[in-house]
Amino acid sequence: MEIYTVGGAVRDELLGLPVKDRDYVVVGATPEVMLAQGFRPVGKDFPVFLHPRTHEEYALARTERKTAPGYKGFAFHAAADVTLEQDLARRDLTVNAIARATDGSLIDPYGGLRDLQDKLFRHVSPSFAEDPVRILRVARFAARFPAFKVFPATNVLMQEMVAAGEVDALVPERVWQELARGLMEQQPSRMFEVLRACGALARILPELDTLWHATQNASHADCINAGQHTMQIVDRTAQQACDLSIRFAALMRGLGRHGPQLVSGTKQVEAVCARIKVPNDSRDLALMLMREQEQVAQALNLPATGIVALLMRCDAFRKSQRFLDMLRAAACLNDAPFPPAGYLEQALQVARQVDSGVVAAALQDRPQQIAQAVQAARINAVDAWLLNSANGGAA
Ligand code: CTP
Repeated sequence: MEIYTVGGAVRDELLGLPVKDRDYVVVGATPEVMLAQGFRPVGKDFPVFLHPRTHEEYALARTERKTAPGYKGFAFHAAADVTLEQDLARRDLTVNAIARATDGSLIDPYGGLRDLQDKLFRHVSPSFAEDPVRILRVARFAARFPAFKVFPATNVLMQEMVAAGEVDALVPERVWQELARGLMEQQPSRMFEVLRACGALARILPELDTLWHATQNASHADCINAGQHTMQIVDRTAQQACDLSIRFAALMRGLGRHGPQLVSGTKQVEAVCARIKVPNDSRDLALMLMREQEQVAQALNLPATGIVALLMRCDAFRKSQRFLDMLRAAACLNDAPFPPAGYLEQALQVARQVDSGVVAAALQDRPQQIAQAVQAARINAVDAWLLNSANGGAA
């Protein structure tokens, strides 16, 4: 039997990037041979095995055939007579269909090296269309390798897949998984560009897609539409190495503010999150940013009561990290320094110094007044801080 390194590991190595996982293809073996050598099977009928020592994945060379719409409808054929070329032919992109033999030589039947050099994402064969997840993958790879372009015929193929309803058959978990990974890449806007170019964004996130048809606030210097503006914001979250929930909140924050009928942005964010099963932490941050972004931007003009009310609405005393994440997201909405973020962070620190235990102890006989008294003490603390700051901080 022969063993080849394949897929992302070969691609990333050729691009001079660090390699995380290595996938191997085994040609000329059977499951029995693999088991006899100590490999452990993954799953029941899939021809993938884990190396007994390294635990890396070794798959028998296989061909695949689509049997049903969506992401699980596959039958495969793995046998000792499946060649490396056949296995590479079932893969999505030419740059992912290069193999490296154990002697270091490259096997590249579909022009992957040339496409790496030309920075092109090109489908290996029409069977690309058998797996709609590949549309999301191409978009995600574009966010990771921003200089790469989608080969025109590949884009046409993806458009046909979208028109055939393939994207609608994707399971929500997979959509979120790929979008989340793309959001964490260096230029997430490229992912959305690719999804728009093939029409997939209108199917997956129609609420976001419409932003490209909405004119941005007339005062916006660059005269860009709301979609382009959102992309600048999301790329800023990537430049600042923000967490996923912050990137997602920034992506969602423009929803529902444009268009002929003003649909509530909150409702739209809720709909998106329910549809693609966005995890709670990302959803909650997106909703909070949507709700509070204007108040946060106005923070420097708020009285102490307004600041404390904002902190309480955001549950900032119990979930302070989430509040700080929202401030970070809010800061990314601007292309200039954003003083309200640091200001509110300080206000939170000041308000937190109120010892609610002491306040509660003093009101043991009137427990129904505790919450109000704690709030009043926090307002007093923030008021004193504001006064002190107004006087130049000379306490
Ligand atoms: N592959 C494919 N179609 C898919 C998923 C995977 O053709 N829907 C093939 C590609 O050849 C890919 C390889 O299987 O390179 C390994 O897949 P995976 O590990 O999921 O992705 P990578 O390309 O390695 O990318 P990443 O760096 O994101 O893991």
